[in-house]
Amino acid sequence: MPDYQNKECGRLRQRQTSGRSVRVFFAIWPKDAVWRKLCGLSEKLELVCGGRRTRAESIHLTLIFLGEIGTSQLDALCLAVNTVKGRAFNFIVDGICYWKFNRVVYAGAGEVPLELFNLVGSLKDTLSANGFSFDHRAFTPHITLVRKVQPHVLPKSLKSLSEPIVWPVSEWILVKSEQASDGLVYTPIGRWPLVSDSKINAAF
Ligand code: 2AM
Repeated sequence: MPDYQNKECGRLRQRQTSGRSVRVFFAIWPKDAVWRKLCGLSEKLELVCGGRRTRAESIHLTLIFLGEIGTSQLDALCLAVNTVKGRAFNFIVDGICYWKFNRVVYAGAGEVPLELFNLVGSLKDTLSANGFSFDHRAFTPHITLVRKVQPHVLPKSLKSLSEPIVWPVSEWILVKSEQASDGLVYTPIGRWPLVSDSKINAAF
């Protein structure tokens, strides 16, 4: 395992100075141009649909939500998932949907990469094998962009993006969720790389 993963866990240990439990989830987090495009989309959607857009720094795609775990379990969690291997992939955001039950508008992909399903499957297997409980509902990859949206018919131009956003995903992270006075704050506390095809080919 690359050294930095354990360093992340070391940093993580230092941060867990207060409280006996922590709310955590695994996610992928957009960067740079992809992040800017998703921010632009959330601003546009808030104008069109009402509701409250996700804070720019909080835009992400959840892989697995664990919820509250004891801070003493964090090291074991990081060690367990160190064994998970995944391949890098492109997530192509090409559509927007309204989710009536949760009253959210989210961005998604018409075609979900197999590598993403495999990553989530491996993570779930590893978590189960190591006694961690998590949300077992079927994985529906989505990027929540606006919340508290009244039932809404989205314009055709938004339902299907004329210029899909190509998101190259090369790592997954463990995130801590904390309630601050002005809403939830997400902090990455662990980071794991995905292997790219070029690196796999270079090994042969
Ligand atoms: P959402 O975007 O659809 O609300 C942190 O809370 C992240 O975990 C959010 O992206 C949220 O998804 C997701 N999540 C999944 N199950 C959850 C649950 N039971 N409670 C809170 N968040 C959950």
